[in-house]
Amino acid sequence: MERSLSMELVRVTEAAALASARWMGRGLKIEADDAATTAMRDVFDTIPMKGTVVIGEGEMDEAPMLYIGEKLGTGYGPRVDVAVDPLEGTNIVASGGWNAIAVLAVADHGHLLNAPDMYMDKIAVGPEAVGQIDINASVLDNLKAVAKAKNKNIEDVVATILNRERHAGIIEELRSAGARIKLIGDGDVAGAINTAFDATGVDILFGSGGAPEGVIAAVGLKCLGGEIQGRLLPQSEEEAERCRAMNIDVNKVLLMEDLVRGDDAIFAATGVTDGELLKGVQFKATYGETHSLVMRARSGTVRFIEGNHSLNKKPNLVMKS
Ligand code: FBP
Repeated sequence: MERSLSMELVRVTEAAALASARWMGRGLKIEADDAATTAMRDVFDTIPMKGTVVIGEGEMDEAPMLYIGEKLGTGYGPRVDVAVDPLEGTNIVASGGWNAIAVLAVADHGHLLNAPDMYMDKIAVGPEAVGQIDINASVLDNLKAVAKAKNKNIEDVVATILNRERHAGIIEELRSAGARIKLIGDGDVAGAINTAFDATGVDILFGSGGAPEGVIAAVGLKCLGGEIQGRLLPQSEEEAERCRAMNIDVNKVLLMEDLVRGDDAIFAATGVTDGELLKGVQFKATYGETHSLVMRARSGTVRFIEGNHSLNKKPNLVMKS
């Protein structure tokens, strides 16, 4: 992949964030998601690459844009696979909550797991605890391993997990172990990535969320030298059959190399609402301000980019109500 691609791709997540941020707190998650998807799709047309969506808004007959198999980019440049989540945290934006992002991941063709849209059990950590976690081990053993790797007591470890009924057992185990817990309403891509940034105070992510989000998080963690392990959790015979058709063994633990192959991939995210890592979009009198994270696995470069987008020169950023 071209080095310059990462800088181009941040324009895509910026556009999605600016468009969906207009819907913050308005209780309209579908509109927020549509705005992000349309803006993202428009900017992709200008990116010099031969891209194919492998993780997107759904199958061709379900999604008008950014559907699986859709071709993206100018048609010139590297042949890449693209995973998108134009708005990761639709409910977050609808309720004006915390940690919604516009996010995408790009890798060489054939290098991203084409994860089916179903749940995935996940465990993720930052670089200090790489090689120490095991999705098959108990919550307590994983906490002990992270505590040891980070030279802390278990009581000082912060675990993050989606606040869901299905996680009651894990949350109980975390509480009995004495760990600190950050329950999140939505957004486990940010939850996973946060484990790799000391400033967020989060050490480990547990629990299940979307499998597509697991692959996107894996690209982010590959860039950061962190780790995520996953296991698909089909909820019906139909979902199990989909895994079989894709030749994915549902009992297999999916490691970093299964989720994103090779040493090169790009991750770009822009904050839609405020989060631990990225500030959300702010609209000023004449410009919209964005905060983005762009990373490349091969070089290990991590960039935080602040953008000011003129509302006069780009009237499409001003929402017509
Ligand atoms: P959406 O933006 O599609 O609403 O996804 C938000 C999210 O919280 C993801 O981050 C997470 O992987 C998934 O939903 C969890 O699913 P569920 O809400 O069914 O527990």
